[in-house]
Amino acid sequence: MSKILDAQNISAYRGLSLAIKDLSLEIPQGCSTAILGPNGAGKSTLLMLLSREIYPVLGQNNGHLNIFGKKDWNVWDLRTRLGMVSQDLQNQYLRHSQGENVVLSGFYSSIDVWSHQEFNPQDREMAARTMQMLGISHLKDRKFSNLSTGEQRLLLLARALVNNPRALVLDEPTSGLDLKACFQYLQIVRSLIQQEQTVILVTHHIHEIPPEVERVVFLKNGCILADGNKHELMTRESLEELYGTSLQLVCHNGFYQALPAS
Ligand SMILES: Nc1ncnc2c1ncn2[C@@H]1O[C@H](COP(=O)(O)OP(=O)(O)OP(=O)(O)O)[C@@H](O)[C@H]1O
Ligand SMILES: [Mg+2]
Repeated sequence: MSKILDAQNISAYRGLSLAIKDLSLEIPQGCSTAILGPNGAGKSTLLMLLSREIYPVLGQNNGHLNIFGKKDWNVWDLRTRLGMVSQDLQNQYLRHSQGENVVLSGFYSSIDVWSHQEFNPQDREMAARTMQMLGISHLKDRKFSNLSTGEQRLLLLARALVNNPRALVLDEPTSGLDLKACFQYLQIVRSLIQQEQTVILVTHHIHEIPPEVERVVFLKNGCILADGNKHELMTRESLEELYGTSLQLVCHNGFYQALPAS
């Protein structure tokens, strides 16, 4: 099966800090995966390696980082194959962008649309259909800055999906969303996975892992602590080790929730 990510013995710096340490990880196409870990674990850094926002230091033992089977990429080509949604992207987004343009920018993986970019009627039709699928057609002419956090997030999800990405990459997708928006977002992601969309979800909120995601990777201090089947790995003990705190673990209808230890 083809691999979205094939990393072996890679490290990565953020500024002067070593954020990823001699990490090896494979994510095959079709294997939706949740990457969990505490603040500062290196989760977002790992996604930046995937989208080539930063480059790894390759270890001597056959160190490599292949994405969709290739070592070298034109980053813009690569990013149009990855549908990414993150708080960082939301912060970067030009405040005056108009809803439809936010979605269209997904064809170029750019921030907003620019005069040199061309969109044919099929592209506009696809943008309209994606907005319709997410129930946000009414945001087409709205200014990004005038929208709620949840509405902005849905537009960014439409931007991520418009170009039919080979992987949907979500970094803390429900942070800042109210319960209704959070549940709506989760429902959309669940149905995308059911339609064979591969999702790579980075989070430290275990309640936002859709039941359909069967694999989890625990990341701590830039290293993989555990990697495998969600139901085998998600135990109170393993999560206590991951987060360094006592907790209670609840599982209901395929969702997990952590509560403070009593
Ligand atoms: N711009 C930066 N300059 C220097 N160090 C950075 C920078 N960004 C992140 N780091 C450091 O890199 C490490 C990994 O950060 P990263 O953002 O990948 O963590 P994370 O797991 O995504 O955390 P969070 O859950 O808080 O989003 C942290 O120690 C962090 O302090
Ligand atoms: Mg992060």
